[in-house]
Order: sequence, then structure tokens, then C-alpha cells
Amino acid sequence: MGKIYALASIKGGVGKTTIAGNLGVALGQMGRDTLLVDTDLAMSGLTQLLNVGEIKKSLQELLSKRVRVEDVIHSLPGKTNILPAGGELESYLKAEPNKLASILDEVKDDYDYIIVDTPPGLSKYNLEPMKASDSCILAVIPDPTAVSAAEKLESIATILDIELGGH
Ligand SMILES: Nc1ncnc2c1ncn2[C@@H]1O[C@H](COP(=O)(O)OP(=O)(O)OP(=O)(O)O)[C@@H](O)[C@H]1O
Ligand SMILES: [Mg+2]
Repeated sequence: MGKIYALASIKGGVGKTTIAGNLGVALGQMGRDTLLVDTDLAMSGLTQLLNVGEIKKSLQELLSKRVRVEDVIHSLPGKTNILPAGGELESYLKAEPNKLASILDEVKDDYDYIIVDTPPGLSKYNLEPMKASDSCILAVIPDPTAVSAAEKLESIATILDIELGGH
């Protein structure tokens, strides 16, 4: 059974998407079955970074209506795959992030690693993906606001019983 890691931060622009993308591509190149999950529904930065191309169905469709997860996952070079963000605005507005845990549970056995990129902020859009993961990696840069935001997220993770680390 694969392990699910989320990249998280309250502050934006600290490298979550870059780290998630590089980790996912490197693991796939090393022969590990890897699934990247772009939970930044509003910005879909990871999907754009990896040039997934035209998106017909995305995570927001999975979170808002009855869609089969196999129909949403795209293969990338190596053994990397991605569950992209993007798609229709209507599904974005209806997306329920608390459905993510059961979706990841459904595919967990198919992968060695699942790497979840999350949006910045402090809302259900990043807390639900963090709760759905086995371990969260807090992204931080050497900037006082980023460090205090990371400390705040660490406290929230403790309250919500979310494991931090990357091990
Ligand atoms: N190690 C690094 N060194 C220098 N620049 C970097 C590094 N990692 C990421 N960047 C750059 O920093 C910017 C923000 O990176 P990225 O999009 O990965 O952050 P993010 O935390 O995902 O942002 P957001 O919260 O908006 O989703 C990008 O322009 C990226 O190329
Ligand atoms: Mg990002």
C-alpha cells in the first residue's frame, strides 16, 4: 500500500508545487508507481507545470459528481501519473474537498507513492487534503512571515492529529 504525502503551507509561493512536481517526476523516473494529485483547484499550478494539456475531467469533477477515478488520471513519462485540477467552473463551485480521502483510499493500493500538492491558505481546500494524507511536509522559506505561518500550521496539524514529517 502506497504512502500519501502532502506538501502544505499557509503562505503562498513558498515552493509546494515545485517540490511536489520534482518529487513526483523523480520517483516515477526511479521506477516507483507514483500519483501526483493537484488539489489546488483554483490555480491548478501542478497540472500546468507538468504540461498535462487539455483537461476533460479533473479532480473537481471527482469532488462534485459521479465520475470514475480511472477516467481522470493521466499518465506522464516514467511511472508518474497525475490526477489533474482544471475543468469546468461549475464543478469547481460544487467541489467538496472532504470527498478526497475516499478517492485516495480507492487508488492507494495501485501506487508506491501519492504526492498531494495543496493550495495556500487555511481553509477546507488545504486542510481536507492534509487530513487525507498519511504525512504532511510543510514548505517554508527563510522569511519571517513564512516561518510564523509554518509554526501556525504546525499547531493546527497537532490539533487535527495530522502527522508531520516526510518519513
Ligand atoms: N528552490 C527554489 N529556488 C528558487 N526558486 C524556486 C524554488 N522553488 C520554487 N521556486 C520558484 O518560486 C515560485 C513559487 O513556487 P511554487 O509555485 O512551487 O510555490 P507554491 O508554494 O506552490 O505557490 P502557491 O502557494 O501559489 O501554490 C515559482 O516561481 C518557482 O519557480
Ligand atoms: Mg502551488
